[in-house]
Amino acid sequence: MNTATFPILITKKVTLRQLSIADYQDVFDLRSDLEINKFLDRQPCKTIEDAKKFINKVNENIEKGGTYYWAISLTDTKQLVGTICLFDLSSENKSCEIGYELMVKFQGQGIMQEAAKAVIDFVFQTLKFNKIVAFTHNDNLNSTNLLLKLNFLKAIESDKEFPNLTVFTLTQ
Ligand SMILES: CC(C)(COP(=O)(O)OP(=O)(O)OC[C@H]1O[C@@H](n2cnc3c(N)ncnc32)[C@H](O)[C@@H]1OP(=O)(O)O)[C@@H](O)C(=O)NCCC(=O)NCCS
Repeated sequence: MNTATFPILITKKVTLRQLSIADYQDVFDLRSDLEINKFLDRQPCKTIEDAKKFINKVNENIEKGGTYYWAISLTDTKQLVGTICLFDLSSENKSCEIGYELMVKFQGQGIMQEAAKAVIDFVFQTLKFNKIVAFTHNDNLNSTNLLLKLNFLKAIESDKEFPNLTVFTLTQ
């Protein structure tokens, strides 16, 4: 998949598009934010160079296939407010995993619900998969609320390998 074929998803509030290298400042802001990183097991961005490398890596992975990574921008102002991605895509199992993050000042407005619904429709209607999995830290209430509002089902047991994580599944 390349930039010409990458799916752009548009709703009233948000436009989901591919990240470009010009987004480096917003990507740096997202990936260096302590509040956003609180429950995420990832290397935070320390420099602008880290953000640029990250964007290049994401777009290389998209080109190889097997992942989707969207910038969430506001449809009205074009402001980048977060990201949402699909990874571990399996055509065999018709399943994938979802991940997302929103700048703190844009949280609590229903923006991620709208973005996630667009991505879920994409998975079920365009990819024709029938299962989406999400792993969330047990204490990540905002993410847990979001997943429950989207009708994901919470597994009774935590992940065996990572007991701090709860597994959520949405099936069609
Ligand atoms: C997880 C995360 C994306 C959730 O963001 P969010 O803004 O809370 O999610 P939503 O889009 O569902 O917004 C919901 C809130 O907006 C409010 N809201 C305001 N206007 C709304 C509207 N028009 N429609 C829907 N909800 C609205 C809701 O009441 C809800 O708040 P509540 O749960 O207190 O009732 C965010 O907390 C985040 O980025 N966290 C850091 C990264 C992270 O942990 N990612 C998860 C990795 S697994």
